[in-house]
Amino acid sequence: MSPLRELFLLDPDVVYLNHGSFGACPRPVFERYQAWQRELEREPVRFITRRLTGLLAAARAALGEFVGAPADDVTFVQNATTGVNIAARALELRPGDEVLATDLEYDACDLTWEHVCERAGAHYVRAEVDRLFESRSERTRAVFISHVTSETALLLPVEEVVARARAEGLTTIVDGAHAVAQVDLDLTSLGADLYAGTCHKWLCAPKGSGFLYVRPEWQERAQAPIVSSGYCEPATFISRTERQGTRDSAAYLAVPDAIAFVREHDERGRCVALAREARRELCDLFGTEPLAPEEQILQMASVRLPHGDPTLSQRLFDEHRIEIPTMGPSDGLLRISIALYNDRNDVDRLLAVLPEVV
Ligand SMILES: Cc1ncc(COP(=O)(O)O)c(C=O)c1O
Repeated sequence: MSPLRELFLLDPDVVYLNHGSFGACPRPVFERYQAWQRELEREPVRFITRRLTGLLAAARAALGEFVGAPADDVTFVQNATTGVNIAARALELRPGDEVLATDLEYDACDLTWEHVCERAGAHYVRAEVDRLFESRSERTRAVFISHVTSETALLLPVEEVVARARAEGLTTIVDGAHAVAQVDLDLTSLGADLYAGTCHKWLCAPKGSGFLYVRPEWQERAQAPIVSSGYCEPATFISRTERQGTRDSAAYLAVPDAIAFVREHDERGRCVALAREARRELCDLFGTEPLAPEEQILQMASVRLPHGDPTLSQRLFDEHRIEIPTMGPSDGLLRISIALYNDRNDVDRLLAVLPEVV
């Protein structure tokens, strides 16, 4: 077992190869998170009414520095899903408008767009990423794309898509749920209008910590899910989105600690190499073709199974204590995640049992 594994709260009896779903929070970051909660409970009024705004500003400053954006262009939200919801509504779509997306998007975000489009009389159009702009029409208002996809675990050419969409006058919304801490982000130079991220996946922050980056010209239209005291004039993008009634902000306050942790233990090079190696070995074992070129693989890889199997993931857990998901239509993909606490032994444990289980 990797020595880094001891820094995590994960069950030592489980081979954990599914960091991609919900991340995992290391002990020192989790302790800071709980310390913030205890501090709040010692003096709730002082903490919430006098200290919280300043503490959140400091946490946003650290996050902004990490993702390459001014602190006041980044607001904390609970997760990427919330960020995508705010972004979709900010477009203020009209009947006949179209939103163009790849056919590789996360299912919950597809539902968000379908819902928002349906209510506005607009259309959500999905196309293959390589031929995305062929589906563009004069009614297209915006482009939505994942930085790293969920089911297929692929790094997409977001820089090119954003640049072309902007050049064509389209609004760009990026789902960066898996990119935060897998990819070195520089959101200002990426140029997307709105970028939603999750901190509880690869940044290893506590659950319920995400962010939405919004370029200044869009901030007026980015409405919070809940209208609360932050709407009192003079309101700002941050005040409107940050104050959402009384809530526990400890996960946000622990984000700077998560940033410090992943910087101190930057294992990305090793993890990417191991994920790519595991992908080759799994493809060989199953006799299936890789989904995409190796350059599109970071710390997660999805591999085609010889045949779809909705029971496989549960059986691997029940019979072998291996946590790994199947994905896609008919559960035809096996998705392996390599986080900083994984090592070659974890992959070997999986490879050893697969011939018998598949
Ligand atoms: C591509 C993608 N977008 C969005 C999400 C949603 O993330 P969250 O549940 O943190 O909102 C996920 C979660 O797996 C994802 O894979």
